[in-house]
Amino acid sequence: MRALVAGGAGYIGSHAVRALLEAGHEVRVLDDLSAGHRAAVPAGVPLFEADIADRDAVSRALEGCDAVLHFAALLSVGGSVRDPLAYWRNNVAKAIALIDAMDAAGVRRFVFSSTCATFGVPVRVPMDEDHPQAPINPYGASKLALERALRDLAAAGVLRAVALRYFNASGAHEDGSLGEDHAHEEHLIPLAIDAALGRRPPLTVFGEDYDTPDGTCIRDYIHVQDLAVAHVQALEALERGDAFQAYNLGTGRGHSVREVVDCVGRVLGTPVPHSVGPRRAGDPPRLVAAAERARATFGFAPRFTDLGAIVDTAARWRRDHPQGYRTRP
Ligand SMILES: NC(=O)c1ccc[n+]([C@@H]2O[C@H](COP(=O)([O-])OP(=O)(O)OC[C@H]3O[C@@H](n4cnc5c(N)ncnc54)[C@H](O)[C@@H]3O)[C@@H](O)[C@H]2O)c1
Repeated sequence: MRALVAGGAGYIGSHAVRALLEAGHEVRVLDDLSAGHRAAVPAGVPLFEADIADRDAVSRALEGCDAVLHFAALLSVGGSVRDPLAYWRNNVAKAIALIDAMDAAGVRRFVFSSTCATFGVPVRVPMDEDHPQAPINPYGASKLALERALRDLAAAGVLRAVALRYFNASGAHEDGSLGEDHAHEEHLIPLAIDAALGRRPPLTVFGEDYDTPDGTCIRDYIHVQDLAVAHVQALEALERGDAFQAYNLGTGRGHSVREVVDCVGRVLGTPVPHSVGPRRAGDPPRLVAAAERARATFGFAPRFTDLGAIVDTAARWRRDHPQGYRTRP
């Protein structure tokens, strides 16, 4: 297939580009580079540097395409609370403009980056796809809105779509060539690594009085290459089954913040300086995926099931790329 990867210069999108190429698909990237990196796009892959709502550019990029994989979004929970309009504009209005352009171009396959943030506070853990969706922040609400739009469009025969709800994307490409390079990093593993390497102030652990064995929050860390492969599998399975499908993607295993902090210290051979602060608003104690549906439908089987192995890839990336993609060899 020929696939357009919107947001393919970003963290997860760039890994998906690699997985698509490895599976023999032809790939183009459309990214405005607002948070992405030209260096994350492999030589030979056309990069359309444009906004997903730029109809002319998107139409050119879509020529001859069979599918769109859509990663291009804003993704900070806190940012969405501070500036909800930006999230509704980018994650919903512009995504609909992208789908409009697809419709005009006759491209009818859509793979969507959704999130466990669409569920809100869990009523049961692990969480399967039928868990109620009641997001508690504008980020999760914006992602759920697009899921709902896709469900309606699929029911009307406009497209076939799959929503992949990632839990905590983590790690870096095991060959060291791709990794996480967010200008305002908010994810625990890179923050802990950078604190241990002395590149940022000590880490703050938000709350240790949760109802979990060590009192800190538990999350399901899924390696970015496992997510990338799942996109290829979901794309290839898109012709089968319902026109709209949703899948949770995680390992099914939870790790507490304290376990992650200890693991980063072990991998780097130096403890992570940290202090304990108050709870953060809207942090559920435990988020763990039940990913049986993805396993049963398209063979999703994460390779990285050990937290230490995930952290090791992230640590190598951050050690070798202190300036992210701006690091010169
Ligand atoms: N990182 C996670 O843990 C996580 C978890 C769940 C879901 N997701 C979802 O996965 C997707 C990718 O996340 P990521 O961590 O790779 O983020 P990222 O910021 O690294 O990648 C997003 C890319 O989209 C581009 N982009 C954003 N808005 C655009 C626009 N209007 N037009 C063109 N390009 C635009 C950015 O430049 C960037 O390259 C997002 O949709 C996010 O909501 C991420």
